[in-house]
Amino acid sequence: MVRLDKFLCDSGAGTRSQVKAMLKAGRVTVDGSVEKDGGHKIDPAVEAVALDGEILGGKRRVVLMMNKPAGYVTATEDASQPTVMELLPPELKRLEVKPIGRLDKATEGLLLFTNDGDLLHRLISPKKEVPKVYYARHEGQACQADVEAFAAGLTLGDGTVCLPARLEPLGAGESLITVCEGKYHQVRRMMASRAMTVRYLERRQEGTLALGALPRGKVRELTREEIRLLEG
Ligand code: URA
Repeated sequence: MVRLDKFLCDSGAGTRSQVKAMLKAGRVTVDGSVEKDGGHKIDPAVEAVALDGEILGGKRRVVLMMNKPAGYVTATEDASQPTVMELLPPELKRLEVKPIGRLDKATEGLLLFTNDGDLLHRLISPKKEVPKVYYARHEGQACQADVEAFAAGLTLGDGTVCLPARLEPLGAGESLITVCEGKYHQVRRMMASRAMTVRYLERRQEGTLALGALPRGKVRELTREEIRLLEG
């Protein structure tokens, strides 16, 4: 934590007396609210300090949630296909965020981004085993034997062994699948190993976070409390 007036001086906003005048004039905001007290303590890693609406002090730490539409690849750049980065509004793109994990081009739903390298690595570490919930529409009908095979840990066609997972049949050709790892095309391959072809896939939940009412194609910043829960 640092005093707001010190942070402003260190960020090159002006001299001590200039900073005092800026604060008095109401030109400084912390997380969007005017702050006139130079002695107010801030955490520059998580709070956005702005002078005349311009964020100071480089990039603040953000975690974003996107409701990814089909048709976008999870990559920071691609020579021929649209990337999820194109869906970020310019003010968020400027913060140099990267996707946490990946969804296939055809998969929709919850995709997280951050510009915090440590958090990024912690959350995509296989050790983390964050449960991810997917909704699938598929050919074939899931039965009790499939549920048990998922729970025991499937072996895929190429010999890859999966961690125990949860399969919940919802009705004809619809299921919820919960996995705690993120292998390539994991859910599609797991379902295929039980003779069910996935036609539509949406990630609805990741750890404590759910998509909720976020519209498809839209992005929102996580609250500090949501980030805290995510970090576990
Ligand atoms: N499993 C898949 O097969 N695809 C995804 O996009 C995510 C999980």
